[in-house]
Amino acid sequence: MSGKPRAYIPPHMKSNGGWKQSTSRHHSRKFYSLQEFREKLPIAQFRNDILKSIHSNQIVILQGETGCGKSTQIPQYLVEAGYTANGMRIGCTQPRRVAAVSIARRVAEEMDVTLGYEVGYQIRFDDKTSAGTFLTYLTDGRLVTEAVHDPKMSRYSVVILDEAHERTVSTDILFSLMKRALTRRKDLKLIVMSATLDTHKFQKYFNDAPLFQVPGKMYPVQILYTPQSVCNCLSACIDTVVQIHTLEKVGDILLFLSGEEEITKVCAAIEKKLQKYSEDIDEEEISEAIVLPLYSLLPPSQQEEIFKPAPKPRYPGGKPGRKIIVATNIAETSLTINGIVYVVDSGLSKQIGYHPRIRTESLTQTNISKASANQRAGRAGRTQPGKCYRMYTEETYEKKFPATTTPEILRSNLRSLVLQLTMLGVEDLIHFDFIDHPAPETITRALEELNYIGAIDNDGKITDLGSQMVNFPMDPYLSKFVIEAVKYNCSREAVSIAALLSVPSIFLKPLGHEKQLQAALAHSQFHHPFGDHLTLLNVYHAWLSKYKTEPDWSHRNFLNERNLRTADNIRIQLSRLMSRLKLPLTSTDFESPHYYSNIRKALTAGFFMQVAVHQRKNEYITMKDNLVVSQGISTIEKDCPEWILFDRVLRLDGRIVTTTLTQISPSWLFDVAPSYFDLRTFPDGRVRDALETVLKRKELGREDGESDEESESGESME
Ligand code: CDP
Repeated sequence: MSGKPRAYIPPHMKSNGGWKQSTSRHHSRKFYSLQEFREKLPIAQFRNDILKSIHSNQIVILQGETGCGKSTQIPQYLVEAGYTANGMRIGCTQPRRVAAVSIARRVAEEMDVTLGYEVGYQIRFDDKTSAGTFLTYLTDGRLVTEAVHDPKMSRYSVVILDEAHERTVSTDILFSLMKRALTRRKDLKLIVMSATLDTHKFQKYFNDAPLFQVPGKMYPVQILYTPQSVCNCLSACIDTVVQIHTLEKVGDILLFLSGEEEITKVCAAIEKKLQKYSEDIDEEEISEAIVLPLYSLLPPSQQEEIFKPAPKPRYPGGKPGRKIIVATNIAETSLTINGIVYVVDSGLSKQIGYHPRIRTESLTQTNISKASANQRAGRAGRTQPGKCYRMYTEETYEKKFPATTTPEILRSNLRSLVLQLTMLGVEDLIHFDFIDHPAPETITRALEELNYIGAIDNDGKITDLGSQMVNFPMDPYLSKFVIEAVKYNCSREAVSIAALLSVPSIFLKPLGHEKQLQAALAHSQFHHPFGDHLTLLNVYHAWLSKYKTEPDWSHRNFLNERNLRTADNIRIQLSRLMSRLKLPLTSTDFESPHYYSNIRKALTAGFFMQVAVHQRKNEYITMKDNLVVSQGISTIEKDCPEWILFDRVLRLDGRIVTTTLTQISPSWLFDVAPSYFDLRTFPDGRVRDALETVLKRKELGREDGESDEESESGESME
């Protein structure tokens, strides 16, 4: 960070104690009005009781309605009570990046300190803290990484695990890592916070820790269901929002959708409809509306907009304006937006699913749980009575929505988690103190995969490669690709590709047929014949050479400038990490025939378990599991190449579809993972037969598979 930190002395370090009384600094008017706001929050009247409970217990569970002040106030109370003396830190985890950033910003404002110095945040690839930071909001994944290197959590006096009900894999694992740390450090405290919690289960898990409940003040919310199932949920949501805006009284609208892509589309559609509406009616009837998206990767400047007041009337005495926020489930409990009176709930969210048979995760749109639906409805009743329009029938809610969301640990691939726990020296993972135990098959699979990629040895101990991989905040397959790329003289390119795979799509998908054709044409100039990873690299290199001189270059080429910039930033962070780990950044000469094949070989070294061979039409069959998958949309120029590796799979209409594909040469498989592809132990079947043919050709020297000009061989399986 640049600039000089403002001189700040935490109040507890001053003789008279107490935050407000102690400070002799000159504060802005805003500071004093924020202090008034703080004092009116429901949690404020319980301040002393909560602190007392924390003083006398190592673990406290705190439950309170969304917006009551848990995330912003509890850490401040702890600072005020002296928990940051002697340079100790308070860490408050958030499952979502946006929430960590936004709450840190708000708290810095309330304390009248500089964000990034006294109060900071740490999210993946972005650290806004300094040596003087005493309060940090960090993602739960980030704290797991810290815990792997410092299991005693030595820099913290108090760790707060916020939004515990979200039950992300990282928060779940922190539950047990914190329990271990607490037994080793009696001066360490843990606070588990949430809006909704299975309190009994949590108290039992945390050795009967005391439960503190902050009573919430909620106004009634009228729930309105659709009389029958809607065919097109998005257009039903759009129409409902427009109807509320045109017919209902003052109050902001919050629409819940499942992901960024729909949010962008729906925001544009609502704006268009409102524009049309305002052209059709009298000037006096019109009230101003501002449509704002909200999702986890929203840039900070746009996040700010969410918290600003609704637009003013068009003229004095005119109709008040309205904010229309179109959000993912991030607005369920993570972020509190004031002024919401109407909630429109699509009933959908995107959820991770794991398919142990093909060892692959997928992200699918699913019905939310009843608990989520009720949280969403609750957003309408924080400041006055509200209405919640559910875009599903009451019967669907009753019969198809599960009571609660299944914890992520039960539906995720646990490669990263198992690698981190192995690094911590945990030997018996099956009997580890999880709050909910993942299926033993998932753990065994993860151990097996980590063994195949060389991250752990046959005795289940971490290898040197595994210890390097643990430092990368990404899936082990991807970190193996980046590390192995050094050997293949292409780690510079691998770091760029890994960064590009860590952001949402850099390709824009515009609305309308004409625009879509233009976008496809623009994108086609970047296509690499061998597939998507190299296409991504082409776009990135083109962007690097153009973005400074041609500011509208991304727009003209239907590319997402923001995601490209984020990827560029991640690439810088990853390059720093590489240099810290003494892994050189190398490149093959661009003119060399091996430039692209080296990158594809490094990819194969990381993703050899996600390789499939062509079977018929656009169907492929995966390696050891013999599962049939379909080829997804790809920039590979050849129709259905014989051998592909894929980054992810999606479930589409009952089929498993691969995405982000690269054509590879099968002979490389024997070089990158000889034990995995040892045909003496390889399961019998069509894949083995195909591999046998490849091996024979390789032994006869008929397939060098070395340069970009090689003919991609392998016998057809038809
Ligand atoms: O954690 P919890 O949901 O209990 O509440 P919080 O996040 O601490 O928020 C307390 C209050 O601060 C809410 O009423 C929010 O409206 C306000 N707040 C805000 O205005 N801006 C933020 N970035 C965060 C909170």
